[in-house]
Amino acid sequence: MIKRSTIDEIMSVAKVDEVINDYVNLKRRGANLIGLCPFHNEKTPSFTVSPAKNLYKCFGCGKGGGAVNFLMEHENFTYPEALRYLAQKYNIRIEEEVRSDEALEEQKHNESLLIISEMAAEYFQEQLHFSAEGRSIGLSYFKHRGLNEQTMKTFGLGYGYRDPNQFKNYALGKGYNEDLLKEVGLLSSKGLDFFRERVIFPFHNLSGKVIGFGGRIIKDNVKAPKYLNSPESPIYNKRKTLYGLYQARTSIRKSDQCILVEGYTDVLALHQSDITNVVASSGTSLTEQQARLIKRFTSNVLVIFDGDLAGEKAAIRGLNIFLEQGINVSLVLLPAGQDPDSQVNELGKSAFTEFIESHKADFILYQAHKIDTEYKMDPVNKSVHIKELSKSLSLIRDQIKRSVYVKECAGILDIDERTLFREINKNIRKDVSKKKSRETSYVPVREKFVDFDPGEDHSQGIQQIVDPTEYQERDIVRVLITSGNKWYDEDKKLNIATYILNNLEGITDYFKDELTKIILQEYSKILNDQIEVQSSYWTEHSNEQVRTFAVDVLSEKYTYAEWSKKGLELQTQKPVEENHVKDSYQAILRFKLKKIVERIEELKRIFSDNTDESKDVILITAYQKLLKERQQLAEELKVTVM
Ligand code: CTP
Ligand code: MN
Repeated sequence: MIKRSTIDEIMSVAKVDEVINDYVNLKRRGANLIGLCPFHNEKTPSFTVSPAKNLYKCFGCGKGGGAVNFLMEHENFTYPEALRYLAQKYNIRIEEEVRSDEALEEQKHNESLLIISEMAAEYFQEQLHFSAEGRSIGLSYFKHRGLNEQTMKTFGLGYGYRDPNQFKNYALGKGYNEDLLKEVGLLSSKGLDFFRERVIFPFHNLSGKVIGFGGRIIKDNVKAPKYLNSPESPIYNKRKTLYGLYQARTSIRKSDQCILVEGYTDVLALHQSDITNVVASSGTSLTEQQARLIKRFTSNVLVIFDGDLAGEKAAIRGLNIFLEQGINVSLVLLPAGQDPDSQVNELGKSAFTEFIESHKADFILYQAHKIDTEYKMDPVNKSVHIKELSKSLSLIRDQIKRSVYVKECAGILDIDERTLFREINKNIRKDVSKKKSRETSYVPVREKFVDFDPGEDHSQGIQQIVDPTEYQERDIVRVLITSGNKWYDEDKKLNIATYILNNLEGITDYFKDELTKIILQEYSKILNDQIEVQSSYWTEHSNEQVRTFAVDVLSEKYTYAEWSKKGLELQTQKPVEENHVKDSYQAILRFKLKKIVERIEELKRIFSDNTDESKDVILITAYQKLLKERQQLAEELKVTVM
């Protein structure tokens, strides 16, 4: 592990503009640099780099962070990989911390498994191209399927011999450990070759390292399964792997779309036809981890289903996983008996592309049309399926997008929009309460929903209520991030973070906003451990919500107008950076004021519900006391309270 002191050194030396300059053409504009965002397609630059704040932010797609985070996003580096890259760039010597024996063992073990897999991949490739059996069986098979040398090389295709001792003897002869060979499944438990008389498709991780294999049988008429895949191992988890993602990642990002197909050969055939943004889920049903993996590169997925209608319903329902991740999904069903491989080979590239373009349908609208045509005369089943559809709709988090879809679907299905909204709200509430009970340490800011009132003008569709408390709460963590380590009172050696957290002691649990809670908790830990944090601690944060929030509050585009719009007058005359003592003091006051206003409202309710006259006096006294407190706070804040 890299030593904390080295990390600090890297963080203090690395300049976000210098790092990004290696990847993006940046032009100066005022204090900032701007360029075309490397994370989404755009024609006018909205990607902004602030050398002064040492952060970047794209106002088009919302991505933002520091130098390390940029490298992790852009190059798909892991955290240590990004640090090593920067250390090299800035000539910083990396000091490693001695790791616990156990962790060290595990790392070594995994490295050995990766080395073994790499060795096997090379071996299988050799056999495919240079051995007599490999050429006559494997190579001719691939050629027969229309694959060229370049494609075979790009994907590292190989061949495993018929003789069950061939690879084993080679590997053991080279001194590789038999137990490790078994652990990655290259040898069976009996110690024989696992992939025999099969063509081989290696699986890669995002760094391009081989982590497992799929082997396809050559003969058609045997009992053995068509494909054999490596068993799960410490380096291979099929739920987290997408076939072809390593080769497709750049193209997915560039085209801002990921095509998902069912088979390995489909990936190869499309790639060879210059459709390179394509991955396969490898026969298994799609997992949440795979959807998240795709989400790192794009928010648009096009699924091409083979033309065998058998698995259709389940497969289509499976696409809800994408909606949950905020990914837009469209789909194409190929004609019966076709898969993308056969179809692209039959039609050729341009006709295939045309076919896809003209047949692709939005996932949601596809469902609506299908229900409409299939259950026209069957209201019972129609309603069952509309409920199903409303589940998909409730997974769309973007409110505007969702109401557009609701409108469309209601039109297609010839039902009342409001009915659909009500059904969706039911699902959302169910989901929220389910999530609540599962809630662990980190939950994104939860939206609050209200029932759509059918009596009202419904031009706005469903309304989102954002609890205004959120802003006061977030304002406190804004101050923590922007000036937590500055002095509140230098003589007393009291910094702003300590001042704020002392003031909030005992009440942090009552905060409503999850993001605020996360940051508060983390900051108290920081104070406990007595570490000094720089702003890079937040702009390089691994939690995307935290990072984005930090970038927003630290970047120059972040205006106080936004806060005052939300009813939070900031009375500071000087820019907040120069007046952080007052800023932090006021943030606390505003929060307290908000709480008092809430309690006043509560008391009013209690008072009007109260039937016991003897309690009136107590209530009125309490009420007046609160009013007074409110008055004092308001005066201090110079905000008029109605
Ligand atoms: N699959 C598997 N095990 C099987 C069958 C299929 O793992 N016994 C997976 C493979 O990833 C395969 C995908 O499911 O690529 C799709 O299966 P299928 O359509 O049968 O295979 P194709 O890739 O189309 O293979 P081919 O064109 O060579 O028949
Ligand atoms: Mn297929």
